[in-house]
Amino acid sequence: MPDLNKSSREAEVLQAKLQDRTAVCGVVGLGYVGLPLVGALHDASFKVLGFDVDPSKIGHLEAGTSYLSHLGEALPQRLAQSSSFEPTAEFSRLEECDVIIVCVPTPVGQHREPDLSYVVATGEAIGRALRPGQLIVLESTTYPTTTREVFLPAILAASTVASSLGEDLFVAFSPEREDPGRASHNTKTIPKLVGGLDDASTHLAVTLYSTAVEEVVAVKSAEIAEAAKILENVFRAVNIAMVNELKVLFEQMGIDTWEVIEAAATKPFGFMPFSPGPGLGGHCIPIDPFYLTWKAREFGLPTRFIELAGEINHRMPQYVVERSVQALNQQSKPVLGSRILIVGMAYKPNVDDTRETPSVEIVQQLAALGGVVEYHDPHVAIVSNLRKHPGILMHSVPLTEEYLTETDLVVIATDHDAVDWSLIGRAASLVVDTRNVMARLAESVSAVVIKA
Ligand SMILES: NC(=O)c1ccc[n+]([C@@H]2O[C@H](COP(=O)([O-])OP(=O)(O)OC[C@H]3O[C@@H](n4cnc5c(N)ncnc54)[C@H](O)[C@@H]3O)[C@@H](O)[C@H]2O)c1
Repeated sequence: MPDLNKSSREAEVLQAKLQDRTAVCGVVGLGYVGLPLVGALHDASFKVLGFDVDPSKIGHLEAGTSYLSHLGEALPQRLAQSSSFEPTAEFSRLEECDVIIVCVPTPVGQHREPDLSYVVATGEAIGRALRPGQLIVLESTTYPTTTREVFLPAILAASTVASSLGEDLFVAFSPEREDPGRASHNTKTIPKLVGGLDDASTHLAVTLYSTAVEEVVAVKSAEIAEAAKILENVFRAVNIAMVNELKVLFEQMGIDTWEVIEAAATKPFGFMPFSPGPGLGGHCIPIDPFYLTWKAREFGLPTRFIELAGEINHRMPQYVVERSVQALNQQSKPVLGSRILIVGMAYKPNVDDTRETPSVEIVQQLAALGGVVEYHDPHVAIVSNLRKHPGILMHSVPLTEEYLTETDLVVIATDHDAVDWSLIGRAASLVVDTRNVMARLAESVSAVVIKA
């Protein structure tokens, strides 16, 4: 890690405040990333202010109630009872913060172009409240150079104080690597990459995160940290696309893809298993790689792996629909008028996140063919107002034996732990399984199962 040898007085003061935990930390954007980070900083004994433009989140945090089911009730309750945490929508209070960490959305626009409006708006809000001696860290995923070329200029343009980077203003990028719903990792145990716009910023950001997470890895620049995050997401998108493509081929050849992957994974080097599925969802994998594709155009270079992976993964919901049509056909049933239950509306197990979920594509395509389609998801009571489907409004139906016996087809889209899979295996007549759930059941399955 770079040291503070030739550092300014402001850097030394902030370093001391971080070490003795008297620094006030502000977290901007209290969603899947920001809220667990608030918890980690609060547990590290900092006073934390949580900023969000969404009044319902502020209301929940004041009342100590949960709005992200996978995090449970304990964290919001603990925060609401603590004198060291305050949620607020008053952005002038950013001035009170010695450290500001930004976890706002970075979506894509209609043509898959980066939408940095949230990052810029937050930068401007920080600029209006800027005072000497603050450390500002961007965590939102974005293309390399954003922190230096977009975020910093937004801060400086809105500020009325003259600032000198590395002297009295410190700025870094630290990618967020949350994996909501997977109990094996959390904000404290996932190693944290940190890259500053200068050495003093890196040093201070490393000091900050070292108080709250077990392992902090300093890299030479913000650009390396930004690019590393995009590499991680491109890696996943490409490998998932590869197994999805092979799955379609192996199924035609009568070979079970899941067994192939399990067999290949016995190789102790040079192979890493990825699971096929009904398509990509969430805020990261379907979106972030296209930030790099957009930036690459500036250099006149194509990102063919990203485009190809996007094309294959994007087609997967349609493939699941084709398998569903075939499955019903084998039972001499048309889709028209068939009762179809989609199990899993969230895009991944054990969370309530429906952003970019492929389940909605499957619902809409089967409904367009005349199917009577409903869904069950223990984590998603209602699905509405999605980015690509603003008009959608559906409610989860209860999973009962009676309901299943009257259903012509069950499509398994998400393998939540909280679903009674044995009941489905026993009571459903026909199952299209995109997650290999039925094969993993200990009990015998009476439903006809088609993998997709
Ligand atoms: N969810 C994940 O698992 C995950 C994983 C890795 C990276 N990321 C990245 O982290 C960033 C945040 O993602 P998220 O999943 O937490 O999003 P989110 O939508 O759950 O949370 C973002 C929050 O920011 C708030 N917000 C929007 N504009 C704001 C503004 N101007 N000022 C203050 N608050 C504002 C929203 O109301 C929301 O509460 C994104 O860049 C995303 O790509 C997310």
